[in-house]
Amino acid sequence: MKKYYVGLMSGTSMDGVDAVLVEFIDGVPSLYSSHDEPIPAPLLNKLHTLGNINLLGECDRACGVLFANATIHLLKHANIEADQVIAIGSHGQTIRHMPNGEHPFSIQIGDPNVISALTNIDTIADFRRKDIALGGQGAPLVPAFHQQLFASRDADRIILNIGGIANITWLPVISNNIKGFDTGPGNTLLDYWFQKHHDQSFDRNGEWASQGLCCNELLTQMLGHPYFTQPEPKSTGRELFNQQWLDNHLNNFSQLSPQDIQATLAQLTVESIAQDIETLSTNAEVFLCGGGIFNLDLVERLEQRLKQHSIKSTQQLGLAPQWVEAIAFAWLAYCHQHGIPANLPQVTGASRLAILGGKYPAN
Ligand SMILES: Nc1ncnc2c1ncn2[C@@H]1O[C@H](COP(=O)(O)OP(=O)(O)OP(=O)(O)O)[C@@H](O)[C@H]1O
Ligand SMILES: [Mg+2]
Repeated sequence: MKKYYVGLMSGTSMDGVDAVLVEFIDGVPSLYSSHDEPIPAPLLNKLHTLGNINLLGECDRACGVLFANATIHLLKHANIEADQVIAIGSHGQTIRHMPNGEHPFSIQIGDPNVISALTNIDTIADFRRKDIALGGQGAPLVPAFHQQLFASRDADRIILNIGGIANITWLPVISNNIKGFDTGPGNTLLDYWFQKHHDQSFDRNGEWASQGLCCNELLTQMLGHPYFTQPEPKSTGRELFNQQWLDNHLNNFSQLSPQDIQATLAQLTVESIAQDIETLSTNAEVFLCGGGIFNLDLVERLEQRLKQHSIKSTQQLGLAPQWVEAIAFAWLAYCHQHGIPANLPQVTGASRLAILGGKYPAN
């Protein structure tokens, strides 16, 4: 009997494909199995240097194969057959997110035709562009999912996802006043700076950063960027917070040690998040998800900075923090399948609610 959905998420950090197998009981997801599919080094290199149209086509195809493999391995580990799965919800790999300007767009690659052909499972993809077509940011899309799953009648809650970029969802007790937006960099600048000085992809547990000293002058300069005070709706990505952005800020700080710069970047992530959280509420419960939760230094800085707020993991609300985003894409597939609109116009700025994504049938 068909009863499962697959959610596939490959985020800004390009640290791997998160694949989850989910069953919905009255619309509530229950995680059955999960799998992390590594991105092969040659494909990762291509994605990082993507700039020509032939390469774009190749990467679109190769990411399609990668997402199909993530699904095949997930099902194999879970001992579940393809014909037990209703649909795959695939986010795709973002290669450009430019939701503002005269011709707003957001491009996610990983051809869903390839995914459905290789897995024999209906695939739903391209979740962001309908919202952008309706004048929205196309991001963040997870707040509707956070609302359905995590809103409480008793306490104001904030869901904080620290992925490559960090985003927050504000869930007040009067829960139709929900807000959601990207706060700025999450792990992306930390990963870049760490990789520049080490032969590893990230600073495990934030150990390197924890031994550095934050430079307040550099921090203040970086926090002066208009993105941090721009009103919502707003979303961002590597287009803004990248190597070049950081290098420009470092021009006058050549005396700083790389480790002190790493500590300052950690504090930038924390400070930009904390400012937004304080504007929303002085005492809400904060629930963390995303890979950033494993960066102990980052979490400690956050706790130090937000002493009035209790900071917990989404695990305490029943969802493992590293799989929340992928489960959200299984949920977006479920919504598409049931004709349920899944954008929140007050979050993205779209002119109306809309059913998101397009379906690529297996047959
Ligand atoms: N043990 C750890 N110690 C420190 N940092 C970690 C650890 N585990 C994961 N991370 C950080 O989390 C990042 C990955 O997080 P995640 O998968 O949530 O981000 P993402 O793929 O960019 O997702 P999205 O953009 O959808 O939020 C890694 O790049 C790394 O910086
Ligand atoms: Mg990831």
